[in-house]
Amino acid sequence: NTNVYKYYSDGAWNISSSGKSVPIINPTTRKTQYKVQACTQEEVNKVMESSKVAQKLWAKTPLWKRAEMLHKAAAILKEHKAPIAECLVKEIAKPAKDAVTEVVRSGDLVSYCGEEGVRILGEGKFLTSDSFPGNERSKYCLVSKVPLGVVLAIPPFNYPVNLAVSKIAPALIAGNSLVLKPPTQGAVAALHMVHCFHLAGFPKGLISCITGKGSEIGDFLTMHPGVNCISFTGGDTGIAISKKAGMVPLQMELGGKDACIVLEDADLDLVAANIIKGGFSYSGQRCTAVKVVLVMDSVADALVEKVNAKVSKLTVGPPEDNCDITPVVSESSANFIEGLVMDAKQKGATFCQEYKRDGNLIWPLLLDNVKPEMRIAWEEPFGPVLPVIRINTVEQGIHHCNASNFGLQGCVFTRDINKAILIGDAMETGTVQINSAPARGPDHFPFQGLKDSGIGSQGVTNSILMMTKIKSTVINLP
Ligand code: G3H
Repeated sequence: NTNVYKYYSDGAWNISSSGKSVPIINPTTRKTQYKVQACTQEEVNKVMESSKVAQKLWAKTPLWKRAEMLHKAAAILKEHKAPIAECLVKEIAKPAKDAVTEVVRSGDLVSYCGEEGVRILGEGKFLTSDSFPGNERSKYCLVSKVPLGVVLAIPPFNYPVNLAVSKIAPALIAGNSLVLKPPTQGAVAALHMVHCFHLAGFPKGLISCITGKGSEIGDFLTMHPGVNCISFTGGDTGIAISKKAGMVPLQMELGGKDACIVLEDADLDLVAANIIKGGFSYSGQRCTAVKVVLVMDSVADALVEKVNAKVSKLTVGPPEDNCDITPVVSESSANFIEGLVMDAKQKGATFCQEYKRDGNLIWPLLLDNVKPEMRIAWEEPFGPVLPVIRINTVEQGIHHCNASNFGLQGCVFTRDINKAILIGDAMETGTVQINSAPARGPDHFPFQGLKDSGIGSQGVTNSILMMTKIKSTVINLP
């Protein structure tokens, strides 16, 4: 068990008593790249205990000191960007340059949390009783924000570092302790990131990182009585978690089928560039990827031609070479994508490129003339395959967007700002982008999904607030 990465608990690196490990398969080579500990339920219990103890002390640590430690962790994280990015390349086949960007963005997010936290947590509210009918000015109410306790963070494979720190940093600045369960693909990058927090000198037990099989510890963790808040990003598992979790605040970000509505007056070069960036960056494996293009028929030919010209320029290959399109995360994911493509083929979609696959590597593919009866019109491939649906009215586009069970983001392209706003208002999504592809960042913007896309709102400020609760102290005057 010696060449297996250790898990982190009680301020130390530990080997699981299970004697078992979980392999991490490199999506490019399809061979085992790393192994992590398969932690046991007993080890989860111990982590929860030490988290609870650490949190009580941490909540008493002055806010400015908590912020100072986050700034230190952010700086260390950035210093470690190269080895962490290398893990991202090997574990999740993220193009090398994007992997570095993910780590730097994470350092910035941690720092921003430190800054934002001292402001928004450093002030409370003061109320007097005489504003409510029938009351004298005999009660003063002091309102402050206090921590929730132990926050459980479960990030997804596509941003194992960034979507981990987007939960860790708000939790810590708000005075909580944090237990991280990283995704298996991306676990080593996450462990390395946790090491940066370790080096920054956070008290032992305040952050823990437990690795293992979801089947063994997944439900046990999410249903653990020691957990006071769950912040999850990922797929359908989130829906199952929300049904099983106890009475604790939930922050959930689960998938999307982000629609891109294109009007006749849109700048088609701008649209094409955004479809490429939005639909194909990280091979479409982003919850905010453009997942369906709804274009007015009169400009559809011109747009498809422009997008095809750009698709032909995308480089396809290993993440080490910084290719635009890299292997998708797993064989089962590639098989799922292929299933959607074959369904569309059988039902008559127009293939703008030839469908090509080698192992987990799928060449970028634009599917034109997609119809509502095709699965790809509704399901998210999480791969480099993008459907185009031609519409005759804007209402058809809005209808398709709103008929989805998802409601994360959407975008609308038009030169008419009044139309853009009206269409944006009609789209049932957490965010609408006008004249740009969907995106979560900048990371202090609110980020939320409707329907099956999630519960609660993220972004630095909202996450900090979500990881606190209101405490009132009422002074009763004689
Ligand atoms: O995959 C889900 C992420 O929250 C998307 O983040 O828009 O920065 O790629 P992004």
